[in-house]
Amino acid sequence: MSRFTNKIAVVTGGNSGIGYATARAFVEEGAKVVITGRNKEAVKKAAAEIKAVGITSDQGSLDDIDQLVAEVKSLYGKVDALFINAGVGAFVPFDAVTEDQFDNMMDINFKGAFFTLQKFLPLLNEGASVTFLSSVNAYTGMPNTSVYGPSKAAMNSLTRTLAYELAPRKIRVNVVCPGPIKTSIFGKLGLSEEGLQQLTGAMEQRVPLKRIGTAEEVAKLVTFLSSDDAAFITGSEYVIDGGVNLNPIFS
Ligand SMILES: NC(=O)c1ccc[n+]([C@@H]2O[C@H](COP(=O)([O-])OP(=O)(O)OC[C@H]3O[C@@H](n4cnc5c(N)ncnc54)[C@H](OP(=O)(O)O)[C@@H]3O)[C@@H](O)[C@H]2O)c1
Repeated sequence: MSRFTNKIAVVTGGNSGIGYATARAFVEEGAKVVITGRNKEAVKKAAAEIKAVGITSDQGSLDDIDQLVAEVKSLYGKVDALFINAGVGAFVPFDAVTEDQFDNMMDINFKGAFFTLQKFLPLLNEGASVTFLSSVNAYTGMPNTSVYGPSKAAMNSLTRTLAYELAPRKIRVNVVCPGPIKTSIFGKLGLSEEGLQQLTGAMEQRVPLKRIGTAEEVAKLVTFLSSDDAAFITGSEYVIDGGVNLNPIFS
């Protein structure tokens, strides 16, 4: 029997990148999986590819989250693994950040993540697992991440609080903090192809393991944390970054 036989998993932002790889891993291990995203066609295509249920839903909209929870309730009535992964990043100098950029990142990355869990709470089984997708930017002082970094750091703090509050229901809450992972997120930064290659090359050089991680590597960590193999793990932060956070002084 696979680790997720008879289990229901929900992955927000499951139509590409880390969410897609994780949703596929859940399906391969026997789970019934629901993926979300804002792009209707992309959600439909990804869901068909991995044999999941696709629901178009914007994590930045509380109405959409209510609708998502209602649909999952009517489909399955319960959730065993909730992976709150959807997120956006815009790298902007502090003095140029607009209110719209601030609100968009905070609304999707933190407020949306917060209310996704709050609204799914009635559906979570005793023993369910919740995993937030944060970033090494929750710890670093990387330039141009004055909104993205705090939007992720807030999730790390929330993880500790909720792991404690939800422990009486045996719900475990953990957070995963990746370093650079090869997904389409970098293509959404508005860089030229050349700029993108320069960024990728520079990141590879900064990582002690001299490469960028893969979405499948993050998926393995998330499925582990969501499984009974991690039954005694809650309130924990997992950095998966090839060592990029280790040494700020010498390279
Ligand atoms: N790749 C990295 O190096 C890296 C490192 C650290 C942390 N992260 C985090 O990892 C998570 C996944 O990113 P990724 O790298 O896999 O990038 P990605 O390939 O761009 O995937 C992002 C996913 O989130 C969805 N999404 C974005 N905004 C959404 C919203 N408002 N509502 C619902 N879904 C939304 C996207 O779908 P739609 O566009 O259709 O909505 C897509 O499925 C993000 O939270 C990101 O901040 C990534």
